[in-house]
Amino acid sequence: MNTAVDLVRARLPRLSRVHHIAVVVHDLDAALGFYRDLLGLELETVLPIPSDGVRIAFLPVGQTKVELVEPTDPTTGVARFLEARGEGFHHVCFEVPNINEALTRLAIDGIQLIDTAARKGAEGPVAFLHPRSCHGLLVELIEAPGGPAWSSLGY
Ligand code: CO
Repeated sequence: MNTAVDLVRARLPRLSRVHHIAVVVHDLDAALGFYRDLLGLELETVLPIPSDGVRIAFLPVGQTKVELVEPTDPTTGVARFLEARGEGFHHVCFEVPNINEALTRLAIDGIQLIDTAARKGAEGPVAFLHPRSCHGLLVELIEAPGGPAWSSLGY
């Protein structure tokens, strides 16, 4: 017998890949000295995101990327994270076919959302789930290119 929760779970869209894993760093250029220059990863982009108070870099490796995040505004959550815990792993980002649909279904399942709707990220529509609901992991979702949130957010 199916409960309502079983039916919702049955319709959850599959995660298609790990889009990126993010590392918070004090100094982006110093971190590139390791990830680009010593590990030999290709540097795809470096860009400031003033609305989030960070500067980020993406370095692709296979089907995924490493995201380096340098806080530029000390009042942000990521700056406080760096202050409290130091440099290191910050979040993992999974790609989904339809982000707003995924958020709705996760909310129905009782998952605490940091972003209740997709917002404009550097690489596409994104939303964060609260680590409290993800066994301590900060989870980001990103919509795959061509999904419905791309046009609704004006990419
Ligand atoms: Co990210």
